[in-house]
Amino acid sequence: MSETHGSLPPAPAAVGQLTLAEKAALVSGSDFWHTTPVERLGIPAIMVSDGPHGLRTQLSEADHVGLSGSVPATCFPPAAGIASSWNTRLIETVGRALGTEARRWGVSVVLGPGVNIKRSPLCGRNFEYYSEDPFLAGRLGAALVRGVQSQGVGTSVKHFAANNQEDDRLRVSAEVDERTLREIYLPAFEHIVRTEQPWTVMCAYNKVNGTYASEHRRLLTTVLREEWGFAGLVVSDWGAVHDRVRSLEAGLDLEMPPNLELSPAAVVAAVREGWLAESVLDDAVARVLTLVDRSTSAIGAADAEPVTFDEDEHHRVAHLAALESAVLLKNERGALPLRTEPGATVAVVGELARTPRFQGGGSSEVNPTRVDVPVEELRDRLGSDVEIVFAPGYGLGGEAADGAAGEDERLRSEAVRVARAADRVVVFLGLPAAEESEGFDRTHLDLPAGQLALLAALREANDRPLTVVLSNGSAVRTSTWDGDADAILESWLSGQAAGGAVADLLTGRANPSGKLAETIPVRLEDSSSFLNFPGDSGVVRYGEGVFVGYRAHDRSAQEVSYPFGHGLSYTTFDVGGLSVRTSGSVAGDDLAVEVSVTVTNTGPLAGAEVVQVYVRDPECSVTRPVRELKGFAKVALEPGESRTATMTLDRRAFAYWSVRHHDWVVEAGDFEIAVGTSSRDLRAATTIRLDAPSIALPLTADSTLAEWLADPRGNELLQGLDLPILRDPGLVRVVGTMPMSTLASFPGLGLDHATLADLGTRLDRATS
Ligand code: BGC
Repeated sequence: MSETHGSLPPAPAAVGQLTLAEKAALVSGSDFWHTTPVERLGIPAIMVSDGPHGLRTQLSEADHVGLSGSVPATCFPPAAGIASSWNTRLIETVGRALGTEARRWGVSVVLGPGVNIKRSPLCGRNFEYYSEDPFLAGRLGAALVRGVQSQGVGTSVKHFAANNQEDDRLRVSAEVDERTLREIYLPAFEHIVRTEQPWTVMCAYNKVNGTYASEHRRLLTTVLREEWGFAGLVVSDWGAVHDRVRSLEAGLDLEMPPNLELSPAAVVAAVREGWLAESVLDDAVARVLTLVDRSTSAIGAADAEPVTFDEDEHHRVAHLAALESAVLLKNERGALPLRTEPGATVAVVGELARTPRFQGGGSSEVNPTRVDVPVEELRDRLGSDVEIVFAPGYGLGGEAADGAAGEDERLRSEAVRVARAADRVVVFLGLPAAEESEGFDRTHLDLPAGQLALLAALREANDRPLTVVLSNGSAVRTSTWDGDADAILESWLSGQAAGGAVADLLTGRANPSGKLAETIPVRLEDSSSFLNFPGDSGVVRYGEGVFVGYRAHDRSAQEVSYPFGHGLSYTTFDVGGLSVRTSGSVAGDDLAVEVSVTVTNTGPLAGAEVVQVYVRDPECSVTRPVRELKGFAKVALEPGESRTATMTLDRRAFAYWSVRHHDWVVEAGDFEIAVGTSSRDLRAATTIRLDAPSIALPLTADSTLAEWLADPRGNELLQGLDLPILRDPGLVRVVGTMPMSTLASFPGLGLDHATLADLGTRLDRATS
């Protein structure tokens, strides 16, 4: 491959040697997973593969929804799990391992990470996405991209943009206002593009404000390339192209899989008939060739020898990642870690302890190299001195299966009998595969009724400490049964090594350090998208605006079951000594606010705490969230150890997207900086004052009386007129919201159109 490549001219030059038909062929793939080769010129095909947390490389049969088999690959924790680690270094390590496996199979681009925002806990694909928070999603996604690309393998940051549901995902129009797009749905993509230059970005299936993402010139070209400086290639999601010519014009370089019957001919015809400028096609071709070039150079240079990878070592990486993916939501009555006397009995209940669910269904489904089974791993950790008794307690076939009710009843009674005399009870609950997958959304947040009935029965049968271990890809409701559990370990879907990791965490061989990357609401109805999810008649309105996740719960001062950023440890931490140092300025775009905080491990065990920095703008001309995450650091500490973490906030940390100015704006004034161990456990706060250029719009006849009065020069000019209305503060309050031109039309106020025009002239003179 590399030899052939070595004789090729650089991409843009090679474009000139191609015929129109060859160029049209190159901007579509040749099959499900390959680009089109041009043998005449020695241009090879390269292969791409899903997905974000493990490879789904299909060497024979191909599909894009996980139907057919794929090569064995390490299944690392899906995004929902690993996001809870809040550990960018760990994610980078996973990325490196993923990159090596890609090289093993000759994969040039790994189709991930998915950085869509969890707008609703119901989204069937939330397990593949990181967070409800764009800052966190961007930082974690960037780490994966860094890791994979360090191995000479590309990534595809997806799905660009506003793909936040599965329902009608190929057609629905996400109706999102500009500020919400900029503040919530785009920043993760923006951060990754600006800092890591992913080799590719994958456009979404859906429409954004009425235009297919695949044809959205503003998104694919104006924002992505011109504003953020993206230099890579835009690939379609699989089957997202509807009109190949329009998508090319919008900036979509590569169509996958190819629509061989229609696309190449349509492109050739459009160029011949003058509908499509050949230069547009040439640009896309150059990007395809650059991608091929990049990949073949990377592989050619490094892979003189075939690449192999150590499955044991990668399983170990998956294990480390799974350890940090679990979140200890609750731990009372000394339930965890399991402390068992020799001769004690531990009841392990739940089919999921024997048949673990560790990844989600669909295009990201990996054929794992091996799978840790929790009950076996627990046996291994607890040793022969402790007796483990297992009962499945429920089936995973779904509630509606024929005869399931009777069977559930039988399984439940058996589990109760087994657990009745146990010293400790550990119950594995979670969502069966049929309830959560790519392709459809959930309709409720509850665990299966049979599992909840089991939990209630176990609680009634045994009052000793009871622990629930959860396996689910997106938030499940805990509020209805929380009281029946002394401890809850949310292990998400955490990859093939999750079983061993959970065993280590339950037994105290490892200390939980995960933090929620999504809120667990009390009820589905508390989720701000509830009224507008998943939409209907082909449209979903993002009516909640920027108030997504904790931004909404905090704004409406709503109780939540477990807040964003929450997660317990077996040790305790003190967070204090907050100090803030500011340099640079908003105007100079070099603002740097260094936030330092000291974390001390005050408990008896080694552990790690995640300190989180939240910013609040208490007074602003637009409604802003009560707090927004703008920095975080994970600090690992031995007992008694202290460390200072420093996080630097830039101008953007204080800005909102102004629809008036079409830009990021910081309003001068006070900003509160709070540091905590969750969004609702803030341990220290301070206020800084920032100067910033005035954002007042120029005063015109359309400006209101209040706006004129708020402006020093406008105020002075108005006072000079000695208008009677200005002497009556009550009246000013009432008519203050009226534009000056309207007031000038009203008789008797002492302001007419000629005076207003004169005011305008004097104002212009004063400001010019
Ligand atoms: C998914 C993508 C995936 C592609 C290829 C699509 O259905 O939305 O995330 O990368 O298939 O499998």
